[in-house]
Amino acid sequence: MRVIECDSQDQAADLAAREILQALERKPDLVLGLATGSTPIGVYERLARAKREGRADFSRVRTFNLDEYVGLPADHPQSYRTFMRTHLFDHVDIRPSNVHFPPVDGADLAAACADYERQIADCGGIDIQILGIGSNGHIGFNEPTSSLASRTRLKTLTDKTLADNARFYGPGDEQPQLATTMGIATILAARRILLQSFGQKKAHAVRAAVEGPVSSFCPASALQLHPDVTFLLDGDSAALLTMRSYYRRVRENELRLGQR
Ligand code: F6R
Repeated sequence: MRVIECDSQDQAADLAAREILQALERKPDLVLGLATGSTPIGVYERLARAKREGRADFSRVRTFNLDEYVGLPADHPQSYRTFMRTHLFDHVDIRPSNVHFPPVDGADLAAACADYERQIADCGGIDIQILGIGSNGHIGFNEPTSSLASRTRLKTLTDKTLADNARFYGPGDEQPQLATTMGIATILAARRILLQSFGQKKAHAVRAAVEGPVSSFCPASALQLHPDVTFLLDGDSAALLTMRSYYRRVRENELRLGQR
């Protein structure tokens, strides 16, 4: 587990986008696992800029989103399909047929979720998974007490997550309480994981994820089991880490030795 305390959110987004673009050069049919929410927007802006400036070709890229609300039509302003179009898909040349979201309807949702897992496997697995973290430690919509062995499935959102996301809904709007999400085991199967976290609101969750015990009560702590995960944090999110100065020293040594 690498923990990088960045000077700014921009620097974190620069590092994540640079790594994705380098991976894309090596593997034009890269398989990306994508997150929504405010955290990854800077990365998507940078990928869109790279496309605009002719520095990147996404025509063979395959994408799998982490999660989607159940009960919102695809074109609803708060659906994650709308989010991804607004922040990435409308700005790069990813083919619609290469874009995948967890299923949200159909007679047999469990079977459709199992099929989502098969589609990921058929693409050879996820090369790079982008993650944010909830203030309760969730990744995707794997809420506290989610099984560490979970796969794509239906989840009920916690009160905390509903409260955190209430800002996106007006007084008359009905906020969805259910979502389908990749499971924790699905996320851990990605070859590389980049988790960004910004803001003081996430500091407790970050500390529990990085320095707490591996526990389903903080789903992000399962990332300790992954061999190649990097936390890209701003100072506010890193504020409660007890080994903060050590992580800084590790980073200084990495830079001195010319490592990524
Ligand atoms: C979204 C997702 C969530 C968010 C998390 C943080 O696809 O999987 O786990 O990453 O809720 O959200 P923001 O970035 O809005 O703070």
